[in-house]
Amino acid sequence: MEWTPDPRELADLELLLSGAFEPLTGFLGHDDAHTVHEHGTLADGTPWPAPVTLHVAADLNLGDEVTLLDPEGLPLAVLTVAAHEPDGLTAGPLKTLSAPEHGPFARLRRTPAQVRTELDGRPALAVTMRGPLDDLTEIVATAKELDAAILLLPLSYGEAGPAVVRAALRAKEQLPADTIVVPVPLAPRDEPEIDLELREHVAAAFGATEHLAGPEPVRIPGPPHRRGLVVFFTGLSGSGKSTIARGLRDALLELGTRTVTYLDGDVVRHLLSKGLTFSKQDRDLNIRRIGFVAAETARHGGLAVCAPIAPYAATREEVREMVESVGADFLLVHVATPLEECERRDRKGLYAKARAGLIPEFTGISDPYEEPDDADLVIDTTHLSIEAAVSRVLDTLRGGGWVR
Ligand code: ADX
Repeated sequence: MEWTPDPRELADLELLLSGAFEPLTGFLGHDDAHTVHEHGTLADGTPWPAPVTLHVAADLNLGDEVTLLDPEGLPLAVLTVAAHEPDGLTAGPLKTLSAPEHGPFARLRRTPAQVRTELDGRPALAVTMRGPLDDLTEIVATAKELDAAILLLPLSYGEAGPAVVRAALRAKEQLPADTIVVPVPLAPRDEPEIDLELREHVAAAFGATEHLAGPEPVRIPGPPHRRGLVVFFTGLSGSGKSTIARGLRDALLELGTRTVTYLDGDVVRHLLSKGLTFSKQDRDLNIRRIGFVAAETARHGGLAVCAPIAPYAATREEVREMVESVGADFLLVHVATPLEECERRDRKGLYAKARAGLIPEFTGISDPYEEPDDADLVIDTTHLSIEAAVSRVLDTLRGGGWVR
């Protein structure tokens, strides 16, 4: 079977295949992952700081071959299943199919073996970086003292990856000519000590005799009025969310300080999600598509207004994560007009049809709506005019500095 690991697992896969995680050459099984967690060693006692695991949500048997794909479908490796836990944790040896050759600065990537050959036995001071180096004097002095070559290892994982590589290339200009820069897609680990130890292991694999960890980057997010924002309305059909969303869009266009992308549920279902049904699976897909477009808009600093029913909490949470992972903000507005009121209005006559059994799986009647417990704003339009509701959303945007 084929499987596309998540971005973090793909980054680990690249390091496993390149030898950067030596002595590890495959994803950890349950026992190893457990002892790593408890004792900082593999099950056989070899020191190893961090779990390196893969989850495959499929039924697998021992000996099955799983082809691991990158998100574009390029086969990267074949894993032969040696263990598969009920939670999906899958271990086994890997066979390389193709070396990753895509992505920014791909031409700078080298395997640890190539770098060790380049160093040719010379001692090396590795500096692992997650942000710019503010002071090069310590690095230069340490390298001189050790008579070591300098090896800059920008840990180029995720959105900030290319910026870290650029920082390394800038630093190289002010360092000795034989300084080597090699991007390493090492995903950060949650616990700082574990992260540091893992960086040391990786640096050693690249031939480093000494390791310095660069300073932690200080993230200075842009001002909110320049940051991407997704205003995501959720609520029952007829709750007023589309009307408020449209009012918000118009008010933003009148102000003219931000560009707006409008992704109303009914509008999206005419093109982007045409043909989808109202099954749970299709509703989730619909929301993920909306989330994808909204996140792409917000990635470039745009403002997206979305207004689908979005009945499932987990899917709304996924969208929040998609948006936040591109460095943008996510605002959930629950239009909490009660079902009785939506049904009383029944502007499209759909509730009557749903009650008559003419529309199956109708949200609130014969299909679930999971009330958000993480809404940033809750609006009940039962006794509130549309203008007042729009004002409340605008006030929230002004209060947060998103619009001026
Ligand atoms: S969602 O569940 O996938 O978020 P979405 O917002 O796109 O729903 O579409 C909801 C709109 O589709 C409603 O406003 C209503 O006009 C129409 N609709 C048609 N069938 C259904 C149904 N079974 N449940 C809810 N809405 C429906």
